[in-house]
Amino acid sequence: MSEDASADRPVPAHIAIIMDGNGRWARRRGQPRAFGHRKGVETVRRIVEGTGDLGVKHLTLFSFSTENWRRPADEIGALFELMKHYIAADLEGLAKRGVRIRILGSRKGLREDVAEMIERSEARTRDNSDFHLNIAFNYGGRDEIVRATRAIAEAARAGELDPASLDEESFASWLDTSDSPDVDLMIRTSGEQRISNFLLWQAAYAELLFVDTLWPDFTIAQLADAIEAYKTRSRRYGGLDAGAA
Ligand code: IPE
Ligand code: IPE
Ligand code: MG
Repeated sequence: MSEDASADRPVPAHIAIIMDGNGRWARRRGQPRAFGHRKGVETVRRIVEGTGDLGVKHLTLFSFSTENWRRPADEIGALFELMKHYIAADLEGLAKRGVRIRILGSRKGLREDVAEMIERSEARTRDNSDFHLNIAFNYGGRDEIVRATRAIAEAARAGELDPASLDEESFASWLDTSDSPDVDLMIRTSGEQRISNFLLWQAAYAELLFVDTLWPDFTIAQLADAIEAYKTRSRRYGGLDAGAA
């Protein structure tokens, strides 16, 4: 019975991925961690290319967290360079394919060249809506909620917003993800089983899926498998399955 129901479940509208395991992938090959991050960008390209074909409209990738500042300066530098080069190399192609890019996270503390590239990618794709690619960079879920709350408080102080009018829906519109629906499926690679401060608000009712594969080895076939697994989940949102009452 429940199998019949799941066969009709739509693909997730919004998939979020914690791309983890680049460092271990490199270490296993006797290479520096940055080698794994470079390889990880190839996976980003494969996944960004293929996700739309699976019927998914919104993809959010966790690329640099507010906690990743704890890493050595040379690794942070390598990650910033990769981000800049990825956008420089792929922006035009993505823009022509109708991809809307949003970079989630704080702009504070970002190098000027990286911040500029981020602005450019968002401005260039502003009018697109075929596929939404969100890249979480210098992103923390708590930081996002605090930034939104601060902006709301400032609007209230300026008399532009009535605090009594605030509800879950209007609060969400102040978050970095205002163009995307809640996360349906959150995937983390590399075998770690935690959220690490990713999309705390948006993933309140996300289905979680942890895979052992390290990010550089992750394939679009595995993403398709993840979607199939998602379709068999029973999403109750605190209620009951149909027919269970
Ligand atoms: C994920 O890979 C990429 C980032 C966090 C930037 P890691 O760098 O965390 O790789 P592991 O977890 O050390 O293997
Ligand atoms: C989470 O991975 C952040 C990104 C993938 C960008 P980490 O490797 O930084 O997370 P922890 O430290 O294992 O929780
Ligand atoms: Mg990690």
